[in-house]
Amino acid sequence: MSDFEENVRQALSNPQNQGEMPDADRVGTVGSPDCGDMLRMWLKFTEKDGKKVIDRASFQSFGCQTAIAVASMATELLKGKTIEEARSLSAQDLTGDLGALPPMKIHCGQLVEGALRSALDGTSTPAPEKVDTLSDQLAPPSGQVKIQFL
Ligand code: FES
Repeated sequence: MSDFEENVRQALSNPQNQGEMPDADRVGTVGSPDCGDMLRMWLKFTEKDGKKVIDRASFQSFGCQTAIAVASMATELLKGKTIEEARSLSAQDLTGDLGALPPMKIHCGQLVEGALRSALDGTSTPAPEKVDTLSDQLAPPSGQVKIQFL
């Protein structure tokens, strides 16, 4: 097992920040055309030293183990980042201590990056009762939440 695979395995044993965030300020959802996996990220902002920074981030995924491990790592890394700092992070940056994404797994990291960018680019968050869970989205589309395919 490679170091990356071992790190993913360890991250999955205790994934961080999984689940919906009812009081989120932003939400972004993306789907991968490569594998059909989906990932949603919620962001909550706060003010720190006169700047708007990410207070909390969470995610929900129908994705592979790598996407879940990267999202877990990324949602920790995002705490305290400004919108500009968060926007500058690449898929590789978001993997943090997991190490470099293997070529076959780059799109898994890009799914997390895409969900982050989708959330950052959103102008508002639908009221919590209007944010479907990903499982809801496997049902016929409600038209309430836009899913962006990368
Ligand atoms: Fe689909 Fe990893 S295989 S996100």
